[in-house]
Amino acid sequence: MEGCDVFGLGQCSLDYIGRIGEFPPPGIKKEFFDLTVQGGGPVATALAALSRWGLFCRFSGVVGDDAFGPVIARSLEEEGIDTKGIVRRKGCASQFAFIAAESPGGRRTIFWERPGGEPLKPEEVDLEALSGARLFHTDGLFVEAALHAAQKAREGNIPVVVDGGTLREGMVEIARLSDFFIASETFGRQLAGRDDPLEACRRIRDLGPRLAAVTLGEKGYAASFGGKEIRRPAYPVAAVDTTGCGDVFHAGFIFGVLRGRSLEESLDLGAWAASRVCLRLGGRAGIPGRGEMETRRRPLPS
Ligand SMILES: Nc1ncnc2c1ncn2[C@@H]1O[C@H](COP(=O)(O)OP(=O)(O)OP(=O)(O)O)[C@@H](O)[C@H]1O
Ligand SMILES: [Mg+2]
Repeated sequence: MEGCDVFGLGQCSLDYIGRIGEFPPPGIKKEFFDLTVQGGGPVATALAALSRWGLFCRFSGVVGDDAFGPVIARSLEEEGIDTKGIVRRKGCASQFAFIAAESPGGRRTIFWERPGGEPLKPEEVDLEALSGARLFHTDGLFVEAALHAAQKAREGNIPVVVDGGTLREGMVEIARLSDFFIASETFGRQLAGRDDPLEACRRIRDLGPRLAAVTLGEKGYAASFGGKEIRRPAYPVAAVDTTGCGDVFHAGFIFGVLRGRSLEESLDLGAWAASRVCLRLGGRAGIPGRGEMETRRRPLPS
């Protein structure tokens, strides 16, 4: 089997995204605008970005046999991603999200339903495909499958990148098997027990990863690697919708790592790519082009 750059395992969904004014109180009718339908899911969207930037990716996940399943799979196939690792569950619903993006500011509220039926099982992960990858990326939602794959990746010296959205069961174990663990603000708060992203990074690093980061939306990110702790602002943009920023932050970071950039530069590539995503509705419309990613260099600190 031909090797790939990135083997991703995690959620894939269909996202319906609409723009609203201010977020409403319960019990009212609220008009929304600019409905867009796009594939979503942290790992799936990260692979869509990486694929557009010229990297060959394979995806492992679950869809149902409802009307959304084939649309989700097609949204990845059209990006050139190998989707043979998608398992179709009979009589089950696919993952779905309705997302309201507030304007101005672009803050998104996501209502989502996980895929019906059983989560992806360890024996459903194509280990041969994984063993030929340069890097493994997971969101840890399918705990057992993600742990199994991360263990195998480790045994094969394949770097493991984790997108930690929520501190749910199994995440600490997955962190122990990872090299680069980039968490959301929520995850950081849950782990540190307070609003202290650098403390959250320290706690993640105590588990083993050589880089830990916490993304903080429009406030940027904090990270710890080597002997360094950094805190960086986000690129200032007039955000329309922040859906997918975290997903593409991970993609930009992975792109940097696979291109041999420093960890600091790789984080910066992630933050820059994510800032482009905020300019369009949905997680995939605003992904910057390959040329920009290839040529971009971190500006010197002012
Ligand atoms: N409003 C914004 N303006 C500029 N950059 C942003 C904005 N929101 C997010 N970003 C960039 O994207 C990164 C990731 O965003 P965020 O922390 O919201 O991810 P997340 O919580 O994982 O969300 P999601 O999973 O929906 O993508 C931030 O660290 C920042 O660099
Ligand atoms: Mg996220």
